[in-house]
Amino acid sequence: MKTYNVAVVGATGLVGSTFLKVLAEYNFPIKNLTLFASERSAGKEVMYDGKPYIVKALKEGCFEGIEIALFSAGGSVSEKWAPEAEKSGAVVIDNSSAWRMNPECALIVPEINVNDFDTARKIVANPNCSTIQSVLPLKPLNDIFGLKRVVYTTYQAVSGSGQKGRDDLQRTLNGEEPAFYPYNISKTCIPHIDVFTDNGYTKEEITMVNETRKILHLPNLPVSATCVRVPVANAHAVSVMVELEKPFTLEEVRNAFSSYPGIMVMDDVKNNVYPVSTVANGNDTVYVGRIRKDLSCENGLLFYAVSDNIRKGAAANAVQIAKKLIEENKI
Ligand SMILES: NC(=O)c1ccc[n+]([C@@H]2O[C@H](COP(=O)([O-])OP(=O)(O)OC[C@H]3O[C@@H](n4cnc5c(N)ncnc54)[C@H](OP(=O)(O)O)[C@@H]3O)[C@@H](O)[C@H]2O)c1
Repeated sequence: MKTYNVAVVGATGLVGSTFLKVLAEYNFPIKNLTLFASERSAGKEVMYDGKPYIVKALKEGCFEGIEIALFSAGGSVSEKWAPEAEKSGAVVIDNSSAWRMNPECALIVPEINVNDFDTARKIVANPNCSTIQSVLPLKPLNDIFGLKRVVYTTYQAVSGSGQKGRDDLQRTLNGEEPAFYPYNISKTCIPHIDVFTDNGYTKEEITMVNETRKILHLPNLPVSATCVRVPVANAHAVSVMVELEKPFTLEEVRNAFSSYPGIMVMDDVKNNVYPVSTVANGNDTVYVGRIRKDLSCENGLLFYAVSDNIRKGAAANAVQIAKKLIEENKI
């Protein structure tokens, strides 16, 4: 089997360290592994698959010979260094928001649209974590019934803010004042993720709208979102209201979900079976449940989806993209 020179940029972070875990779990065909982080971490030792690797700082020419570069070091690092890696010949899979809406770059959920990758532009964007777990179940619904309108309400874990979010939950659970979120996250949900824009939506909410349309190739799909931070350590949840073009039965919808890759249906309310964060923690499945007809419109459907935002919402989705591109001889 062919093996590849792989770099991880942001290897000391929450997503970066999960990249390493997932690469090892997936038995990714690595020839040489190079780990990058900021100057602060240069020289630090990080373990991969039982072996120590020394973390390096980014510098001119550092991507020479790299074939696959996985980035999770924030938008400004990706803006500057992803084109450098691309110029050196690497396929870049970027977890930040820097390249997601660039029309030349594919925005990929591997079960849905890996064919959007175009070798002319080798920077591939990984979607926002909440978008990934929302569009995956929407895809089979669109294929079979057609989507007319989508409304999201999210319940997002603190790990979605990186280490700072996790620390603020712990700090406030310990009785200290919040230092990162605007309110005490241990005591309340906060309907505010990323900054507010002029129309009253947050950037996270607008991101979900734009990315849904791009991934599903539905540029005019009416979508809106409310994104809420909740006092949960890990795994995001989303309640999705979707108006479909065609009539449906709940059995048809359950079959559509359960026959689609990456989705598991958990929907037996008589026995309290529905997706909760703890079931999604540490794996790469999108769990879907609470499937029912919306009472407010014709052909309306409601469901609830839960997934590990650091794995399927970030690191695992990126590694799955790389694996798919290898399988399809695009790398
Ligand atoms: N958390 C999530 O659920 C999630 C989901 C999807 C996407 N993302 C995206 O993934 C990225 C990382 O998120 P995270 O949660 O892993 O954050 P994090 O835990 O704060 O880690 C950030 C990483 O970036 C490195 N870094 C920072 N500045 C750098 C620089 N100037 N040059 C090189 N490396 C630098 C850090 O290195 P040091 O340790 O040396 O500082 C660290 O390895 C962000 O773009 C985020 O939006 C996060």
